[in-house]
Amino acid sequence: MSTASTTEAAEAVEAAGTAAPATGPAAHTADLVVFGGTGDLSMRKLIPALYHSDREGRLSPETRVIAMSRGGLTDADFRGKVDAEVRDQLPVTDEGQWQHFLARLHHVSVDVGRDDSSGWSALAELLAGHEARDRVFYLASPPRTFGPFCRELERAGLVTPRSRVVLEKPLGHDLTSAQRINDEVGAIFDERQIFRIDHYLGKETVQNLLVLRFANAFLEPIWNSLWIDHVQITAAETVGTPGRRGYYDHAGALRDMVQNHLLQLLTLTAMEPPARNDREAIRDEKVKVLQALRPIAGGEVDRFTVRGQYTEAGDLVGYLDEPASTPPNEASRRVETFTAIRAEVKNWRWAGVPFYLRTGKRMPYRRSEIVVQFKDVPHSIFPGGAPNRLVLRLQPEEGIELHIMAKEPGAGETTLKPVPLSLSFGKTFTARVPEAYERLLMDVLAGNPTLFMRRDEVEAAWRWIDPILEAWQADPALPEPYPAGTTGPAGAHELLGRSGRAWHEEEM
Ligand code: BG6
Repeated sequence: MSTASTTEAAEAVEAAGTAAPATGPAAHTADLVVFGGTGDLSMRKLIPALYHSDREGRLSPETRVIAMSRGGLTDADFRGKVDAEVRDQLPVTDEGQWQHFLARLHHVSVDVGRDDSSGWSALAELLAGHEARDRVFYLASPPRTFGPFCRELERAGLVTPRSRVVLEKPLGHDLTSAQRINDEVGAIFDERQIFRIDHYLGKETVQNLLVLRFANAFLEPIWNSLWIDHVQITAAETVGTPGRRGYYDHAGALRDMVQNHLLQLLTLTAMEPPARNDREAIRDEKVKVLQALRPIAGGEVDRFTVRGQYTEAGDLVGYLDEPASTPPNEASRRVETFTAIRAEVKNWRWAGVPFYLRTGKRMPYRRSEIVVQFKDVPHSIFPGGAPNRLVLRLQPEEGIELHIMAKEPGAGETTLKPVPLSLSFGKTFTARVPEAYERLLMDVLAGNPTLFMRRDEVEAAWRWIDPILEAWQADPALPEPYPAGTTGPAGAHELLGRSGRAWHEEEM
């Protein structure tokens, strides 16, 4: 971005960054323009999140939501569609309030594949006269459209100093493609105007991890390789990929879940305490963790990573038989629906501590958690003890458990039993736990980028992922099969078993 507006834009976003946080009073009046506005993400996540925010008074009364799609809908059609398809997902108790919410919604048709000047003029007309508002362009559209959309927005003169752009994943399929997207978007928007979403960062427990680590004194002295044996980060899903194979064949678990969500959880677990709770201080520390990841490349990939693909079991079909618009091909046979990786952060704090990452579709349970496994006591005087373990659960029920050893009541010999000190967010706090997208959308509207990925973070993550992808591509072997509904292939268990460790649930 070379125009004089660069500095102005940055200053405006900077100023907005100090504005009310998501949990505070209503954000500035904004025009939120959603590309892919009638798509799945918009209808399932964004519109419901906006409704909740509106209901709780966090949207200013004049804020508008403008959905862009090829659909050829009028405002009334789009409002009718939301009324028919989204209302039932929501706790609509006040009809007047719902109607007011619907009235915020607009629709503009645009086709990026064509020279569709009428669509861009219609958007310009709708936005005209509102240049002083915050303007958010949310690109919930395929990544190949990011560059073209940004260029069209600039050409139509719609990028104001108070504009921001939100990018949905996938941000590329490797480092080169991610850099290309970043360059294209960066040619129009200043980095401080670019908000790259990773919805895991909007989850309550993820933010709580920062509070747990940096607002409590007791953990910091033991949060290192002297006291911690290893860390397990798991995102297990029961769902398969019905109807998604077109995307998933070319993504796979590594790109879909590890490059973004799991590595983000790793950075928050491993980062050094930042000096301030501010946008750059936290992201600076996170990026240092990604840069400290020990590369896994060439012959080591086989030793430190596992790939799996689910196969038919009982009523569940295998990956290759999932309903899809095209028959399975070579890419389908080679793609991993499960992966486990032994990562290592090469710095003073974490030297020698493995971080085991694991994610898979069609596992027996839906569970996302970070398990910090402490070392055993240096000298045991009781038989049957087990090391402490801290479990940070993101889903299904958000909570924190510290497993400690206790004496089982009884007069005879001392018998030890691991028992959890348990904090359930649902039981402890009565307030509704907002969905990740709600928090993140409010942060975008407030101009606060702390929970969004910076360019250097995304690229550092790809830099670590790329050699693994390359080695997998060069390997003629297919992913190890695992029956749908099980915890992944045998290799995943061997990955820990080799060093005498086991996945957390195998020990329960
Ligand atoms: C998305 C992935 O980013 O995250 C999906 O593309 C995955 O494949 C989803 O199912 C998981 O999100 P959550 O919040 O349900 O854990």
